[in-house]
Amino acid sequence: MNSDLKTESESVVTTPKKVHVKTFGCQMNVADSERMLALMVEKGMVPTSEVKEADLIIINGCSVRDKAVHKAVSFLGEQQVLKNKHHGKNNRGVVVTRKPPIIALGGCVGQLDKGEIFARAPYLDFVFGPDAIDHLPELVHKAEMGEKHFVQTVFDKTLAYSTSTKVHGAKAAAFVNIMKGCDKYCTYCIVPFTRGREKSRTINEVMEDLVDLVSKGVREVTLLGQNVNSFGKGNENVNGYEPKELHNVIGKVGPRAGEENLPQLIYAIEREPRLAKLKRLRFTSSHPLDFSDELIECFVKCTKLAKHLHLPVQSGSNRVLTKMGRHHQIEHYISQMKRLKQLVPEVGLSTDLIVGFPTETEEEFQETIKLLDAVQYDNIFAFAYSPRPGTRAAKMDDDVPASVKNRRLNELLQHQLVISKKMYSDRIGQVMEVMVEQIAKTQNMIHEGETGRVWTARTTCNRPVNFIDHTNRNYLGQFLTVKITGATSLSLSGELIHDPSFAESSENKYTSTYSTSEIVQ
Ligand code: SAM
Ligand code: SF4
Ligand code: F3S
Repeated sequence: MNSDLKTESESVVTTPKKVHVKTFGCQMNVADSERMLALMVEKGMVPTSEVKEADLIIINGCSVRDKAVHKAVSFLGEQQVLKNKHHGKNNRGVVVTRKPPIIALGGCVGQLDKGEIFARAPYLDFVFGPDAIDHLPELVHKAEMGEKHFVQTVFDKTLAYSTSTKVHGAKAAAFVNIMKGCDKYCTYCIVPFTRGREKSRTINEVMEDLVDLVSKGVREVTLLGQNVNSFGKGNENVNGYEPKELHNVIGKVGPRAGEENLPQLIYAIEREPRLAKLKRLRFTSSHPLDFSDELIECFVKCTKLAKHLHLPVQSGSNRVLTKMGRHHQIEHYISQMKRLKQLVPEVGLSTDLIVGFPTETEEEFQETIKLLDAVQYDNIFAFAYSPRPGTRAAKMDDDVPASVKNRRLNELLQHQLVISKKMYSDRIGQVMEVMVEQIAKTQNMIHEGETGRVWTARTTCNRPVNFIDHTNRNYLGQFLTVKITGATSLSLSGELIHDPSFAESSENKYTSTYSTSEIVQ
């Protein structure tokens, strides 16, 4: 895809068209944005981080809370001006007239909106949902041909889920969808309405996908799904993978005996000789249902599996959990977390929590605070309840005032900061393998007059670690060894231990670790 630009002297300059993807929301959207970029790059476009330069602007929106929808919609509003602006400078600084960009709204916001937004944002060209991503090049072509205001949000109704991961550029880390959709229908949550029914890929297909990614240089993979613990449900275990059946004191709704399951996939990855170069494996997100004893054992037996578990709990009160439709008891959740910690003491734990759910009392909120003390998470993701239209909870009286929700949220976060500081400080003195993710956003570890750069890396337990390097090397995507020397409640700092294997490797080809698109949480 080329863009014909006329210079002031009216001669035609042909340059590749540029695409900008703005991502809001979870890792699922990050992976989707990467796929969109890869698809458009295959069609000859080049990614740009400058939205003003783009010929195609894709907004990949999240609907999980009201605020998230607002962020995507207000970003869309900011782009209106670009539709009217026909002048810009090309790469050589020459003033050119250009076609206005095509603007598309996708992701969970696109899926739910279904085009109602055209009345408010007539400058928007088209709307599409997550199941239409693979048709993106055709949709863009349609818009280029002059069609406006079309919508592609039909769910893929087939029972099977088959795909292959697409990444753009030289990546050290990749998100790999192993399942899609969600059948849990927690009463507060919009995701089942934006992502459709739960479906899993087969283990064999995921394995071939990983072999391909590793051959392209990927060294860390995060297996993705809304409830990866339920992976495999409905897929017959024709290859005789072990373990045949899962056991979980919290409850089971996922794969039955004779079907594929997540521990089988993790063992298959661990043992596959063609994946020898894959250094680290993660999975997210998990639901306490189907967080099986067999999965806990994987943390002990599988060396590639990172020592980190994100297991959303949502509340410390059984009454609130029931109203949320979570179908798990807090005592069982705590006992599974304790069991994991006993077997793998170095594991890092994190969770999601909602405060101010309809009818939540002060005492019930205090039960959530007590839960933090009982589990000792490394960190938490906490949110004030936000009613989502169409969900069962939206029909309940949203009776916790905003001021109380905010106060509870702050109290929860403050309480966790103290725990995080302790959890991180406990790691001082340890020597850890880390994967380098980026040049640190702040360089203030470097003292005046000192040369070098601060890098941010991630431990197996999913903690960010900042370290100084005095050489001028590109460490992006490299696995290095650091000694932890300091801790705050948000991150660790460490000293790089010289790594001879890296010194011997000549060129670092990685340009980034995860997505090339811009992400807003
Ligand atoms: N599938 C995962 C699970 O079951 O926990 C994650 C789902 S959601 C994408 C991420 C988090 O957003 C949830 O765990 C929950 O804490 C939060 N969330 C979802 N709906 C919400 C709502 N209506 N209001 C506030 N927070 C919400
Ligand atoms: Fe939402 Fe619940 Fe499904 Fe998670 S499990 S995506 S919170 S409905
Ligand atoms: Fe993710 Fe937001 Fe959709 S959290 S699944 S992008 S609603």
